[in-house]
Amino acid sequence: MSAKKIGILGGSFNPIHKGHLRMAKAARDEYGLDEVWLVPTGFAPHKDDENMALSYSRKNMIELLLSEEPDTDRIILKDLECKSADKNYTYKTISYIHENYPEDELFYIVGEDSIRYFHNWVHPEIITAYSHILVVERNASDTAGIKTGGISPDEMDVRSAIDYVKEKIPGQYSLLSIEPFSMSSSDIRNSILSGADISKAVGEKVSYYIKDHLLYNRGDYDKDLFNDIQEKLQKRLKNSRYQHTLGVMNTAGSLAMKYDYPVDKAMLAGLLHDCAKGMTEDEQIEYCNKHDIALTESELSSPQLIHAKLGSYLCRNKYNVDDKDICHAIQVHTTGCPEMNLLDKILYIADYIEPNRMNLPRLFEIRQSAFEDPDRTLIMILHDTVAYLDRRNMPADPKTKETYEYYKKYMIKQGKDISLIID
Ligand SMILES: [Fe+2]
Ligand SMILES: [Fe+2]
Repeated sequence: MSAKKIGILGGSFNPIHKGHLRMAKAARDEYGLDEVWLVPTGFAPHKDDENMALSYSRKNMIELLLSEEPDTDRIILKDLECKSADKNYTYKTISYIHENYPEDELFYIVGEDSIRYFHNWVHPEIITAYSHILVVERNASDTAGIKTGGISPDEMDVRSAIDYVKEKIPGQYSLLSIEPFSMSSSDIRNSILSGADISKAVGEKVSYYIKDHLLYNRGDYDKDLFNDIQEKLQKRLKNSRYQHTLGVMNTAGSLAMKYDYPVDKAMLAGLLHDCAKGMTEDEQIEYCNKHDIALTESELSSPQLIHAKLGSYLCRNKYNVDDKDICHAIQVHTTGCPEMNLLDKILYIADYIEPNRMNLPRLFEIRQSAFEDPDRTLIMILHDTVAYLDRRNMPADPKTKETYEYYKKYMIKQGKDISLIID
């Protein structure tokens, strides 16, 4: 195998944005690199920790942006740091790559802000021994006002800063110019909090991923609230229903951990999902009439569905959990709906697979699938639900059928083979 030129672009990628890819592409094209590796940091014990998304999501977002952006050939996600329990020092990563790819020529890509204090990094001499440093210069008009040859590296122009650093840490340093990118990852996180659209900076898929997982806007729930609701439900529900509720709560929490969704929120949705089951079906209808909760034809002919809509109402008005995601997930937990969000899917699946469930067809496979691919799992559950009702000559709710058709089409569009999981 002939020697390759490999560019390495490290960072927290919290989240990745198009500016990162602009750097990677410029390095690839200007220096004829065979590959550019995006290497997300793992454990990062510094002040930004609270806002640091799990490496799982940061890696998913890198893959999503790479899949959507044009001209990303030979730009590759490399997970070299995430599994480590130690602080990820660049010199260790570069040494590791050098040892494992001794023939290859390494280029370490670094932003101009970071190079200014490169001499203070841990073992910068190891980094320059094994790699050529490519300093990304923001080819910007915003450098106006920066002095040349000032005392602090902060105040120097980038060339003087490199000379200054090079004197302390000899090595090969080159400049790489790119059009500046207007947003940083922290700008993007702030925009999310203010509800601004970030899709221009991160692409549609990453933007959706962040929203679906509530990545930088997680909220938190008081433990007393959980205890309080549990006490009420234990009194109001039959014991078997209460045990089912606890099963759904814990399963929803487990799925949330797997898919990096806020665990408390998923557990709260699980805890409350059947809260209306404390009433009989007649009482539920009466309650709905009294509180102007409109019921559809199909809910009136299959009253076991009513507890979803009513549960959502009680969640907000009786249990004081005024959370639109939780209320929505409860509202759709019996039938599903097209375009379910991640919490909707977690609750729908948890309700079906929780530990007290028994004697359902292929339950083991569905449970396994739940931790592999939520969309495939939805199809399996929807299929089996429709088939079960068919066998008993009972009509499936139109929403269930619509959801089933929607997800079948969705999976096929994604290029996923579902022929083995549906008849
Ligand atoms: Fe239910
Ligand atoms: Fe349930």
